[in-house]
Amino acid sequence: MTEQTASEPSVALLGTGIMGLGMARNLLRAGIPLRVWNRTRSRAEPLEADGAAVCDEPADAVRGADIIVTMLADGPSVFEVMAAAGPGLTAGQIWAQASTVGLAWLDELAELARDRDLVFLDTPVLGTRKPAADGQLTVFAAGPDEASHSIRERVRPVFDAVGRKTVWLDEVGAATRLKLVTNSWIAALNVAAGETVALAQALGVDPEAFLQTVTGGLMDSPYLHLKARAILDEDYTPSFTVTLAGKDARLIKEAGEAAGLHMDVASAAAERFGRATALGHGDKDMAAAYFASFDGTSPG
Ligand SMILES: NC(=O)c1ccc[n+]([C@@H]2O[C@H](COP(=O)([O-])OP(=O)(O)OC[C@H]3O[C@@H](n4cnc5c(N)ncnc54)[C@H](OP(=O)(O)O)[C@@H]3O)[C@@H](O)[C@H]2O)c1
Repeated sequence: MTEQTASEPSVALLGTGIMGLGMARNLLRAGIPLRVWNRTRSRAEPLEADGAAVCDEPADAVRGADIIVTMLADGPSVFEVMAAAGPGLTAGQIWAQASTVGLAWLDELAELARDRDLVFLDTPVLGTRKPAADGQLTVFAAGPDEASHSIRERVRPVFDAVGRKTVWLDEVGAATRLKLVTNSWIAALNVAAGETVALAQALGVDPEAFLQTVTGGLMDSPYLHLKARAILDEDYTPSFTVTLAGKDARLIKEAGEAAGLHMDVASAAAERFGRATALGHGDKDMAAAYFASFDGTSPG
């Protein structure tokens, strides 16, 4: 851990799942004083050895913190946890909401922040388990009109610790919209990779022959190889779970439909993630949407 300086803010991080754990470690490496809370305490406890204080209640974690970061599953869990944190909140604290919650829940959370006199920042992140562990996330950040230079400066050490790049956008909602658009592309690639591998197998085509055919061509994609390799190697160690990918596909579909679009691809993605979850693959990496191609829990 580097030595703490007077300019470093104290941070409360709520949620030490796949993403929160890596983010916490990088905050600690940057010398930022950190209190963490996680519903399942054992998932946060390894951070004690790195210098974090692990709290039993969200209110204890946020009490006195300059900046609160939420990295929880979805809008309802963020709302529930921040409501529980209420007794520890103080007017003027900055709340950087980094979970992917979609547009409707973002409004609810912004209202909760207004009620509590918190400075609300809409800060979803791009990148998965490894970029989170390596401090290489991209932070999409947007604040209210008054998210002045001084607020940006106050949160900069936090975003610099967890990310390689911060993209500032001009109003709450803009960061979530960019995140949804980006995840729309990721979900489409992921489900297409799984379905294409399943189709190859069902038609008696060697999936490796398919991968070799596209390699280096215009339709090639590193993401195809990443997800197809996970399927072929049967390695579903989660970087991003099927369950949460399904949540995102639903948020993308809702956002597009609210804007008047037919969201055929997001609908199909939501259906595939939902079916894979129902088959028992929800905790696996999103590559396991592949299993949605089959009737049972195993292909063939
Ligand atoms: N993984 C990625 O690639 C990635 C990338 C960018 C953004 N995101 C977004 O970042 C957020 C976290 O993702 P993750 O991959 O870190 O997920 P994760 O490993 O599944 O962690 C989810 C976290 O939310 C907590 N949680 C769930 N339901 C809760 C509830 N009702 N009350 C309190 N806590 C609850 C979990 O606590 P327990 O430990 O007790 O279950 C855990 O801390 C999600 O919004 C996700 O969409 C993920």
